[in-house]
Amino acid sequence: MSSRIPLAYNPKVLELFRNPKNLGKMEDADVEALAGSIACGDMIAIYLKVDKETERISAATFESYGCAANIAASSIMTEMIKGKKLEEAWGVNWKDISDELGGLPSVKFHCGILSVGAMRRAIRTYFKEKPRPSWMPEEPTPDEKHALEEEKLLEILTKRVQKRMEARSRRMQETKENK
Ligand code: FES
Repeated sequence: MSSRIPLAYNPKVLELFRNPKNLGKMEDADVEALAGSIACGDMIAIYLKVDKETERISAATFESYGCAANIAASSIMTEMIKGKKLEEAWGVNWKDISDELGGLPSVKFHCGILSVGAMRRAIRTYFKEKPRPSWMPEEPTPDEKHALEEEKLLEILTKRVQKRMEARSRRMQETKENK
């Protein structure tokens, strides 16, 4: 029998996990971002459609290869930023998302941070070829740093796996020598 204790998700998280809103790839997105979490190795893609004149987000969708909390957080985040100007969307943080969900278990905070980091990464990408607006910090925020680019995430995870394998073969070697 499994000794794992099920996480105490509130009903809103479970409802959005079962019936997420804005789930799926947006073929005609103006900007997209793919980001992964170093905490768990999960990934998320965010797609935004932006009105060029007003800089308002007219549509936001996501694809998640993460957990229930990440799916619920991304779902509610896309709902929260829809209709907002990019500057306002930038101001949405993971605590806002957690509050809107009625709270996330503390071990799942990083799942909300991943959603926000990916969203901010998408907004930053939108301004890649444009002058950086004054409200956007020059340096990546902690959420953006948490949401690593795919290549960086793979690099870190590969190193992690290599270290574990090396430690394992060292242990096996030691066991052999002690026999
Ligand atoms: Fe990875 Fe939630 S555990 S996103």
